[in-house]
Amino acid sequence: PTPELWRRVDAYLTDTLVGHDPDLEDAVAAQHAAGLPAIEVAPVNGKLLHLLARISGARRVLEIGTLGAYSTIWMARGIPADGVVVTIEAEPRIAEVARANLERAGVDAKVDILIGRAADVLPTLEGAEPFDLVFIDADKESNTIYLDWAARLGRPGTVVVVDNIGRGGEVANPATTSAQVIGTQRGLELLGRDPRFDATALQTLDLKGYDGIAIALVV
Ligand code: DHB
Ligand code: MG
Repeated sequence: PTPELWRRVDAYLTDTLVGHDPDLEDAVAAQHAAGLPAIEVAPVNGKLLHLLARISGARRVLEIGTLGAYSTIWMARGIPADGVVVTIEAEPRIAEVARANLERAGVDAKVDILIGRAADVLPTLEGAEPFDLVFIDADKESNTIYLDWAARLGRPGTVVVVDNIGRGGEVANPATTSAQVIGTQRGLELLGRDPRFDATALQTLDLKGYDGIAIALVV
Protein backbone atom coordinates (compact mmCIF):
# COMPACT_ATOMS: atom_id res chain seq x y z
CA PRO A 1 0.00 0.00 0.00
CA THR A 2 1.07 3.58 -0.61
CA PRO A 3 1.68 5.86 2.38
CA GLU A 4 -1.38 7.84 1.31
CA LEU A 5 -3.53 4.70 1.54
CA TRP A 6 -2.30 3.42 4.92
CA ARG A 7 -2.49 6.90 6.43
CA ARG A 8 -6.08 7.18 5.19
CA VAL A 9 -6.90 3.76 6.70
CA ASP A 10 -5.24 4.70 10.00
CA ALA A 11 -7.28 7.94 10.10
CA TYR A 12 -10.45 5.98 9.30
CA LEU A 13 -9.80 3.42 12.06
CA THR A 14 -8.89 6.15 14.53
CA ASP A 15 -12.00 8.19 13.71
CA THR A 16 -14.24 5.12 13.80
CA LEU A 17 -12.90 3.23 16.83
CA VAL A 18 -10.69 5.47 18.93
CA GLY A 19 -12.15 8.95 18.60
CA HIS A 20 -10.51 12.23 19.55
CA ASP A 21 -9.88 13.08 23.16
CA PRO A 22 -8.78 16.61 24.18
CA ASP A 23 -6.66 15.44 27.14
CA LEU A 24 -4.71 12.99 24.99
CA GLU A 25 -4.34 15.47 22.12
CA ASP A 26 -3.24 18.21 24.55
CA ALA A 27 -0.64 15.83 26.00
CA VAL A 28 0.83 15.23 22.54
CA ALA A 29 0.74 18.97 21.77
CA ALA A 30 2.53 19.79 25.04
CA GLN A 31 5.11 17.08 24.37
CA HIS A 32 5.87 18.52 20.93
CA ALA A 33 5.84 22.12 22.24
CA ALA A 34 8.48 21.07 24.79
CA GLY A 35 10.68 19.93 21.91
CA LEU A 36 10.34 16.22 22.68
CA PRO A 37 10.32 13.83 19.72
CA ALA A 38 6.99 12.81 18.17
CA ILE A 39 7.54 9.12 18.93
CA GLU A 40 4.56 8.45 21.19
CA VAL A 41 2.45 5.46 20.17
CA ALA A 42 -0.26 5.96 17.55
CA PRO A 43 -3.81 6.41 18.87
CA VAL A 44 -4.82 2.93 17.69
CA ASN A 45 -1.93 1.50 19.71
CA GLY A 46 -2.71 3.62 22.75
CA LYS A 47 -6.22 2.21 22.62
CA LEU A 48 -4.74 -1.29 22.33
CA LEU A 49 -2.70 -0.77 25.52
CA HIS A 50 -5.82 0.55 27.23
CA LEU A 51 -7.84 -2.49 26.15
CA LEU A 52 -5.07 -4.90 27.17
CA ALA A 53 -5.14 -3.36 30.65
CA ARG A 54 -8.88 -3.95 30.83
CA ILE A 55 -8.82 -7.39 29.19
CA SER A 56 -6.14 -8.56 31.64
CA GLY A 57 -7.90 -6.92 34.60
CA ALA A 58 -4.64 -5.12 35.36
CA ARG A 59 -4.37 -3.20 38.61
CA ARG A 60 -0.59 -2.70 38.55
CA VAL A 61 1.06 -1.57 35.32
CA LEU A 62 4.78 -1.02 34.70
CA GLU A 63 5.87 1.25 31.86
CA ILE A 64 9.51 1.58 30.85
CA GLY A 65 9.91 4.86 28.91
CA THR A 66 7.42 7.62 29.82
CA LEU A 67 8.17 10.39 27.30
CA GLY A 68 5.12 12.74 27.34
CA ALA A 69 2.95 10.15 29.14
CA TYR A 70 0.62 9.65 26.17
CA SER A 71 0.61 5.84 26.55
CA THR A 72 0.67 6.29 30.34
CA ILE A 73 -2.64 8.18 30.22
CA TRP A 74 -4.19 5.49 28.01
CA MET A 75 -3.16 2.71 30.44
CA ALA A 76 -4.06 4.69 33.59
CA ARG A 77 -7.57 5.05 32.18
CA GLY A 78 -7.76 1.25 31.81
CA ILE A 79 -7.08 0.38 35.46
CA PRO A 80 -9.32 0.77 38.53
CA ALA A 81 -9.14 3.76 40.88
CA ASP A 82 -6.98 1.80 43.34
CA GLY A 83 -4.57 0.73 40.60
CA VAL A 84 -1.21 2.24 39.67
CA VAL A 85 0.93 2.79 36.61
CA VAL A 86 4.58 2.91 37.62
CA THR A 87 6.37 4.64 34.75
CA ILE A 88 10.15 5.05 34.48
CA GLU A 89 11.71 8.07 32.75
CA ALA A 90 15.45 8.64 32.52
CA GLU A 91 15.32 12.40 31.89
CA PRO A 92 14.03 14.71 34.69
CA ARG A 93 13.09 17.42 32.16
CA ILE A 94 10.94 14.92 30.24
CA ALA A 95 9.39 13.65 33.48
CA GLU A 96 8.20 17.22 34.21
CA VAL A 97 6.38 17.37 30.86
CA ALA A 98 4.83 13.99 31.64
CA ARG A 99 3.77 15.11 35.12
CA ALA A 100 1.95 18.17 33.75
CA ASN A 101 0.22 16.03 31.12
CA LEU A 102 -0.89 13.46 33.72
CA GLU A 103 -2.31 16.22 35.91
CA ARG A 104 -4.15 17.85 33.02
CA ALA A 105 -5.63 14.45 32.10
CA GLY A 106 -6.70 13.91 35.72
CA VAL A 107 -4.89 10.58 36.13
CA ASP A 108 -1.91 11.74 38.23
CA ALA A 109 -3.29 10.02 41.35
CA LYS A 110 -2.96 6.67 39.55
CA VAL A 111 0.58 7.20 38.22
CA ASP A 112 4.00 7.09 39.91
CA ILE A 113 6.80 8.55 37.81
CA LEU A 114 10.19 7.15 38.79
CA ILE A 115 13.11 9.16 37.46
CA GLY A 116 16.32 7.39 36.57
CA ARG A 117 17.78 4.92 34.14
CA ALA A 118 15.40 1.96 34.04
CA ALA A 119 18.24 -0.55 34.53
CA ASP A 120 18.95 1.17 37.88
CA VAL A 121 15.31 1.76 38.90
CA LEU A 122 13.92 -1.70 38.11
CA PRO A 123 15.86 -3.54 40.86
CA THR A 124 14.29 -1.16 43.43
CA LEU A 125 10.85 -2.53 42.52
CA GLU A 126 11.73 -6.06 43.63
CA GLY A 127 9.68 -7.38 46.51
CA ALA A 128 6.58 -5.29 45.75
CA GLU A 129 3.34 -6.81 44.47
CA PRO A 130 3.81 -8.20 40.94
CA PHE A 131 2.87 -6.16 37.90
CA ASP A 132 -0.05 -7.34 35.77
CA LEU A 133 0.92 -5.52 32.56
CA VAL A 134 4.34 -4.30 31.41
CA PHE A 135 4.92 -1.93 28.47
CA ILE A 136 8.53 -1.69 27.26
CA ASP A 137 9.17 1.42 25.12
CA ALA A 138 12.56 2.89 26.01
CA ASP A 139 16.13 2.49 24.69
CA LYS A 140 15.91 -0.60 22.51
CA GLU A 141 19.53 -1.57 23.27
CA SER A 142 18.36 -2.59 26.75
CA ASN A 143 15.32 -4.66 25.75
CA THR A 144 16.77 -7.94 27.03
CA ILE A 145 17.42 -6.33 30.43
CA TYR A 146 13.89 -4.95 30.50
CA LEU A 147 12.34 -8.28 29.49
CA ASP A 148 14.27 -10.08 32.21
CA TRP A 149 12.92 -7.58 34.75
CA ALA A 150 9.41 -7.91 33.32
CA ALA A 151 9.54 -11.63 34.07
CA ARG A 152 11.03 -11.08 37.53
CA LEU A 153 8.56 -8.34 38.48
CA GLY A 154 5.60 -10.16 36.92
CA ARG A 155 3.83 -13.42 37.70
CA PRO A 156 2.34 -16.18 35.57
CA GLY A 157 -0.34 -14.38 33.56
CA THR A 158 1.43 -11.01 33.34
CA VAL A 159 1.07 -9.44 29.88
CA VAL A 160 4.19 -7.86 28.36
CA VAL A 161 4.13 -5.54 25.32
CA VAL A 162 7.29 -4.40 23.51
CA ASP A 163 7.03 -1.38 21.18
CA ASN A 164 8.90 -0.82 17.91
CA ILE A 165 9.77 -4.38 17.00
CA GLY A 166 9.49 -3.88 13.22
CA ARG A 167 11.52 -0.74 12.51
CA GLY A 168 10.52 -0.44 8.85
CA GLY A 169 11.47 -4.08 8.26
CA GLU A 170 15.04 -3.67 9.50
CA VAL A 171 14.33 -6.18 12.29
CA ALA A 172 14.63 -9.00 9.73
CA ASN A 173 18.07 -7.85 8.58
CA PRO A 174 20.68 -10.11 10.23
CA ALA A 175 23.44 -7.74 9.07
CA THR A 176 21.94 -4.61 10.57
CA THR A 177 24.45 -2.26 12.16
CA SER A 178 21.85 -0.32 14.18
CA ALA A 179 22.38 -0.88 17.91
CA GLN A 180 18.68 -0.26 18.45
CA VAL A 181 17.64 -2.89 15.91
CA ILE A 182 20.18 -5.35 17.31
CA GLY A 183 18.71 -4.74 20.78
CA THR A 184 15.25 -5.34 19.37
CA GLN A 185 16.39 -8.60 17.74
CA ARG A 186 18.00 -9.79 20.99
CA GLY A 187 14.77 -9.02 22.82
CA LEU A 188 12.66 -10.97 20.34
CA GLU A 189 15.11 -13.89 20.47
CA LEU A 190 14.85 -13.88 24.26
CA LEU A 191 11.05 -13.98 23.99
CA GLY A 192 11.34 -16.92 21.59
CA ARG A 193 13.63 -19.07 23.71
CA ASP A 194 13.13 -18.01 27.35
CA PRO A 195 10.79 -20.52 29.04
CA ARG A 196 9.36 -17.72 31.20
CA PHE A 197 7.58 -16.27 28.12
CA ASP A 198 5.15 -17.25 25.40
CA ALA A 199 5.05 -14.56 22.72
CA THR A 200 4.05 -13.37 19.29
CA ALA A 201 4.48 -10.14 17.34
CA LEU A 202 2.50 -8.12 14.85
CA GLN A 203 3.67 -5.81 12.10
CA THR A 204 1.90 -2.46 12.28
CA LEU A 205 1.30 0.27 9.70
CA ASP A 206 -0.13 3.43 11.21
CA LEU A 207 0.56 7.15 11.25
CA LYS A 208 3.95 6.38 12.84
CA GLY A 209 4.90 4.30 9.79
CA TYR A 210 5.84 0.65 9.38
CA ASP A 211 6.76 -0.93 12.70
CA GLY A 212 5.37 -3.56 15.06
CA ILE A 213 4.67 -4.72 18.59
CA ALA A 214 5.44 -7.93 20.44
CA ILE A 215 2.92 -9.30 22.91
CA ALA A 216 4.02 -11.86 25.48
CA LEU A 217 2.57 -13.76 28.38
CA VAL A 218 4.64 -14.62 31.44
CA VAL A 219 4.02 -18.36 31.92
C1 DHB B 1 10.98 5.78 17.53
C2 DHB B 1 9.67 5.40 17.80
C3 DHB B 1 9.35 4.90 19.03
O1 DHB B 1 8.08 4.51 19.32
C4 DHB B 1 10.32 4.75 20.00
O2 DHB B 1 9.95 4.22 21.16
C5 DHB B 1 11.61 5.13 19.75
C6 DHB B 1 11.94 5.64 18.51
C7 DHB B 1 11.31 6.33 16.20
O3 DHB B 1 10.42 6.38 15.36
O4 DHB B 1 12.46 6.71 15.99
MG1 MG C 1 7.98 3.35 20.99
